[in-house]
Amino acid sequence: MSSTHQDDNLMAHDYDGIREYDNPTPGWWHAIFIVCVLFAGAYLLFFHLSPYGWTIFDQQDATAKRINDKAQAILKATYGSLTPDQDNLVRLSGNTNALAAGKAIFEGRCAACHMPDGRGLVGPNLTDDFAKNYKMPGDIYKVVSGGVPGTAMVAWEPLLGRDDVVLAASYVISLRGAHPANPKAPEGEPLPEWPKPAGE
Ligand code: HEC
Repeated sequence: MSSTHQDDNLMAHDYDGIREYDNPTPGWWHAIFIVCVLFAGAYLLFFHLSPYGWTIFDQQDATAKRINDKAQAILKATYGSLTPDQDNLVRLSGNTNALAAGKAIFEGRCAACHMPDGRGLVGPNLTDDFAKNYKMPGDIYKVVSGGVPGTAMVAWEPLLGRDDVVLAASYVISLRGAHPANPKAPEGEPLPEWPKPAGE
C-alpha cells in the first residue's frame, strides 16, 4: 500500500486496520440523483394526488369508448337510428356487425343469468321454441327494455340506453334455434314462426 497522492483524502477512523478514503460521488451523479428525487415528487403530486393525472386504465377506457362509438356510428349510418320496431330488430338479427355488438353486450350484462350461449340458468333458455314473456321478436325488445317486474330480470333500458338494448334484443332474436349443450328445460308457451332476417 504505497499510494501517497490520495492520502489527503484518508479519513481519520481505523477499524481493525481498515481505513477509508473520502471520495465523494461526482457532481454529475449528484445532479442525476437530485433530478430523480425532484421528478419523483412531481410525479407523485401530478399523477397520484392531483385530479389532472391519467393512468393506463383511462387510456384503455378511452380506446374502448372510441371503438364502441365508431361501431355505433357505422351501425347508425347503415340503419338510420337503432329503432326498436320489429322489422328493424329482425333485420339487425341477421347483420354481422350488429350481432357482434349485441353479443358483447349480452356476454357482459346478460350471460350471468342466461349463460353466454343463452341456454339459461337463473333466467330462461333463450334458444328454444318457448317463452314466458314474448311471442314475436319485437316483444323481446320490450321485455329487455322494461324487464319483468317482480323477477331478477330488471329493466335494462335505464342502465344501457336504447341503442344497446336494441342490439342485445337483436342478438337474443338470433339465438332462437341454436342448440347449446345442457339447455335449461323449456319454460312458458310455444312460440310461433318468426319472420326471417334477409341476411346481410
Ligand atoms: C340477474 C339475472 C338476469 C340478468 C342479468 C338478465 N336476465 Fe333476463 N331474465 C332473468 C329472469 C329470472 C327471467 C325470467 C323472468 C320471468 O320469470 O318471467 C328473465 C327473462 C328474460 C327474457 C324473457 C324470457 C322468456 O322466456 O320470457 C329475455 C328475452 C331476457 N331475460 C333477456 C335478457 C337480456 C338481453 C339481458 C341482458 C341485457 C338479461 N336478460 C339479463 C334474469 C336475468
